[in-house]
Amino acid sequence: MMNCITDFFTYETTKSVVVKSWTIGIINRVVQLLIITYFIGWVFVHEKAYQVRDTAIESSVMTKVKGFGVYNDRIMDVADYVTPTQGASVFCIITKLITTENQIQSSCPESELKFQCKSDDSCKDMIERQKPGGNGLMTGKCVPFNATLKTCEIKGWCPAEIDSIKMNPMMEVENFTIFIKNSIRFPLFNFTKGNFLPTITSDYIKKCNFNPVSDRYCPIFKVGDVLKFAHQNFSTLANKGGVIGIKIGWVCDLDKSEDECNPSYSFTRLDAVSEKNSVSPGYNFRYAKYYKMENGTEYRTLLKAYAIRFDVLVNGNAGKFDMIPTLINMVAAFTSVGVGTVLCDIILLNFLKGADQYKAKKFEEVSEVQVDKSTSYFNGMYRSRDHSQTSIKHDEKQSSDSGAFSMGQYG
Ligand SMILES: *[C@@H]1O[C@H](CO)[C@@H](O)[C@H](O)[C@H]1NC(C)=O
Repeated sequence: MMNCITDFFTYETTKSVVVKSWTIGIINRVVQLLIITYFIGWVFVHEKAYQVRDTAIESSVMTKVKGFGVYNDRIMDVADYVTPTQGASVFCIITKLITTENQIQSSCPESELKFQCKSDDSCKDMIERQKPGGNGLMTGKCVPFNATLKTCEIKGWCPAEIDSIKMNPMMEVENFTIFIKNSIRFPLFNFTKGNFLPTITSDYIKKCNFNPVSDRYCPIFKVGDVLKFAHQNFSTLANKGGVIGIKIGWVCDLDKSEDECNPSYSFTRLDAVSEKNSVSPGYNFRYAKYYKMENGTEYRTLLKAYAIRFDVLVNGNAGKFDMIPTLINMVAAFTSVGVGTVLCDIILLNFLKGADQYKAKKFEEVSEVQVDKSTSYFNGMYRSRDHSQTSIKHDEKQSSDSGAFSMGQYG
């Protein structure tokens, strides 16, 4: 019983072999220096490992578009061309509209060429083969569309929309401005800030336009500029529609002054897939306005809108000094210095002149007799095993000044 206790209250320390060799000495120090430089330069200074990070940024975005355009001899204002109207972080500016007026519920010929027919039979055939599409439910009849052309008849909103007509987009959109109000909060540090920096005055806001060099913090963006920064062509986008991302990045070091926590804006096209393929290019959607006649019959105006959609995306993180990550990373740094010994051991025991002598010094062979005599020097761990073997190779568990790396594999 007493033996057990005294065996338990012992301290094990490793025996080191000091090698006085210039070659291995220099390699050892150089490797250690590299590891220390990496930790100080990259991990601590560049990656700021001494800070705790908050990546769960909370944010609110409000937007407002301004400008007047001319389309179809009509002056268009914000209520006409921005949808949805709430001024959220995602909004569309309509650049082109295809209008089909006075539609009522009835039967009429299809307007698309792919529904061309010769007889009722070909229309019935089409019902079986076609995927859902067209402008209404097919009745299976073939009716004249105009003097020369016959198409299948549909039941639905008539007359059917003809969306192949060429329309010019509203070019004034290029000069419209987007105003973005963004507030953010880092909940971990309870830090709040907005993209209206204290330096911004109302006089400045009235005349500024965002520019990455001269007006980096102006919250007003010209549509044409945004597209230019996203490397897009305005007239292509206005014709086909598309989705543009306005990214607001907040990367803040809260150990520094609050004034240094500023937004950075960047712009990209988000619907890269529609940019490249021709199957579904651009962005468009349909909506309708409903009316009622005196006699109660409902009619509507169908609008097919080509729009540039803007998504305001906010991301960011903030860091602040904290004891826990500092300690963890310092411990990691100190233990990593020991990794150098692995490399040095490989060189020392395999490639250096006199490797055999080093090996002999490093791995002491102890015979059975000796073990019996010196049992008391080892603690309980080895005892039972030693007796069953004729000789043991006593591997040092650690080979140098730091680190805890078993060298058994070289024995
Ligand atoms: C946009 O504004 C510029 C300068 O104010 C003007 O020269 C240009 O004609 C405008 N573009 C359109 C499409 O109205």
